[in-house]
Amino acid sequence: MSGHHKEVDAVTGVETTGHVWDGDLKELNKPLPRWWLWTFYACIVWAIGYWVVYPAWPTMNGYTEGMWNWSARAAAMDEVKAGHDAQAQFRDELAKATLGDVKTKPELLRFATAYGQSVFGTNCSPCHGRGAQGSPGYPNLNDDDWLWGGKPEDIVQTIAFGIRSDHKDTRISAMPRFGMDSVLKPEQISDAAEYVLSLSSKSTDKAAAERGAAVFAENCAACHGEKGTGTQEMGAPNLTDAIWLYGGDKAMVVESIQTGRGGIMPAWKGRLDDTAIKAVATYVQSLGGSK
Ligand code: HEC
Ligand code: HEC
Repeated sequence: MSGHHKEVDAVTGVETTGHVWDGDLKELNKPLPRWWLWTFYACIVWAIGYWVVYPAWPTMNGYTEGMWNWSARAAAMDEVKAGHDAQAQFRDELAKATLGDVKTKPELLRFATAYGQSVFGTNCSPCHGRGAQGSPGYPNLNDDDWLWGGKPEDIVQTIAFGIRSDHKDTRISAMPRFGMDSVLKPEQISDAAEYVLSLSSKSTDKAAAERGAAVFAENCAACHGEKGTGTQEMGAPNLTDAIWLYGGDKAMVVESIQTGRGGIMPAWKGRLDDTAIKAVATYVQSLGGSK
C-alpha cells in the first residue's frame, strides 16, 4: 500500500481511495449500493423495535422485559397446555369408550395405543421388557400364546387385578409343588418331564416319556388338559407349543414340576386409573396375538 493523494481512475472516472496493491491495482472509492444501505437501516430499526417489545438486554438484576411481556417459558407452557387440552378430549373419550369402541375409531385407537405405550414403558417394561418380549418367568406379550387369555376383557382383568397378587379379585391358581412337597418321586418327575418334552417333540427317551404319560394323566391333565394344551381359566400353560414361560430344556421342566413355580404379576387397579388400564391393554393388544 502506498500513496496519500487521491486521484481519479482514468478508465471508470471514479475517484480512488489511494490504496494500491501489487503496484498497479487501485481501489475505487465507490459508495455502497443504495439497496444495501436501506436494508441496513431497516435492520437497525427492526432491532430497536425488537429491543422495545421483547426481552432483550441483561440488567444488573435481571433483564429488560419488553412491552409484550413475552417469555420463552410462558410460550412453552401455552404449548403444553394446548397439548393437554387436546389430550383431555381423547382421555374423556377413552374413559367412556369400551375396548370394542376404541378399535372402531382410528384416532382414539392411535391415542390409546400411544398413551398405553408410555404407561407400559414406565410400569411394565421393568418386568416384561422394553418391547414386551419377556424373559424367563415373565411372559412375552407379543406372541399368540396366552396364559390367562388374549381377549380384550381377559387382558384388562389380568392387568387390573394381577396374577397371584394381593388384590382380592386376583387371578389365582397353584400348580402343586410335586417335588418340594414329595407328591411325586424324583423318577416320576423325570418321566413326567420327558413326557412334557415329547409333546413338543423334544424328548430323547421314548420309554421314559411313555411312563410319564401315565403320571401326567393322573397328576397334570386336570390343569394342563388331557393333551397338554393348557387351560386359560387356570393360567396353566399350553405344554405342546414349544413356547416356554420358564424354559424348555429338561432341567427347567423338572424344576417347574418340582417347585410348581407360581409367577406373580401385581394388580394395577388403584395404581393406574381405569383409563390408563384401558390404554395399556389396548397397547398390549396392538402388539399382536390378541383375540
Ligand atoms: C413385577 C413384575 C411385573 C410387572 C411390573 C408387570 N408384570 Fe405382567 N406379568 C408378570 C408375571 C410374572 C406374569 C406371569 C404370571 C404367571 O406366571 O401367570 C405376568 C403376566 C402378564 C399378562 C398375562 C399374559 C398371559 O399370557 O396371559 C399380561 C397381559 C401382563 N402381565 C401385562 C402387564 C402390564 C400391562 C403391566 C404394566 C401395567 C405388567 N404386566 C406389569 C410380571 C409383571
Ligand atoms: C393345579 C393346576 C396344575 C397342575 C395339577 C399342574 N400344573 Fe403345571 N402349571 C400350572 C400353572 C398355573 C402353571 C404356570 C405357573 C406360572 O405361571 O408361574 C404351570 C406351569 C407348568 C410348567 C411350566 C411351563 C413353561 O412354559 O415353562 C410345566 C412344565 C408344568 N406346569 C408341568 C406340569 C406337570 C408335568 C404336571 C403334573 C406332574 C403339572 N404341571 C401339574 C398348573 C398346574
